Amino acid sequence: MELSIDEIEFFKDNGYLIKRSVLDPKLMARARDRLWDGAPPSMKRDDQASWVGPIRPEEESEDPSNRRKGFRWQFREPGGEPFMLRLLATDPNVFGFAEQLIGKHQLQKPVRIRGIYCTLPYGKKDPGSGAGGCHVDAHPFHLGVVGYIDDVGPGGGGFTVWPGSHRTFFGDFRTRYTFNPNKNYQGDREKILKQSSVECHGKACDVVFWHHRIGHTAPPNRTGRIRQAVLYDFRKVGLAEYQDRRPTKNMWYDWSEELRRV
Ligand SMILES: [Fe+2]
Repeated sequence: MELSIDEIEFFKDNGYLIKRSVLDPKLMARARDRLWDGAPPSMKRDDQASWVGPIRPEEESEDPSNRRKGFRWQFREPGGEPFMLRLLATDPNVFGFAEQLIGKHQLQKPVRIRGIYCTLPYGKKDPGSGAGGCHVDAHPFHLGVVGYIDDVGPGGGGFTVWPGSHRTFFGDFRTRYTFNPNKNYQGDREKILKQSSVECHGKACDVVFWHHRIGHTAPPNRTGRIRQAVLYDFRKVGLAEYQDRRPTKNMWYDWSEELRRV
């Protein structure tokens, strides 16, 4: 599988790209099984009614390896297991797409993925739009990937982006990859919030690629299914050396020749 010129152009313009039917079904099934090792006692895999959030106060956890609070459940414990790496970061297609965007032999070797990030169903509560959660991630990386290991229907908490916002936000930081917003950031964020967002729903196997400065959020889940996604952040070799430098004039300076040519 390869990204077409049109897909690379879409990524440059919009700051994200959805690729369908990418992940390995056997590895996804294994990850879905693994998730339940971290479930709170009251949540049962065979009882859909028990999946509705929020997490009960007595079952909340601030342990970073298995953080459970409100409607979010971030199971990071298996992130370094070989099958999880192979599921997402070193999947030949995912890795190949990332190399096309960033450069052949230019990616840091994946050591662990973030883990399995879940959004629990809101049930009968009114969750609001969740748009206020629009943010840019604070840690340094080049290219994010969100892979769905279970179907995420419309309204199901799919990764949500503000298309094109990466082009504005790229200039809103004093540094190229670390989180040092300048005076324009807050105002731009408020303007972008008024623009329409795109909720990336999809099937298990689908993957969303996204630029490190795109505005995004994990919106509420209005369906009855748990939103289950695996996340990884691709970094180019040498990132630490230039992450604190000023943003480049050409925002694609660090990306592949193939992408810059488009
Ligand atoms: Fe984020």
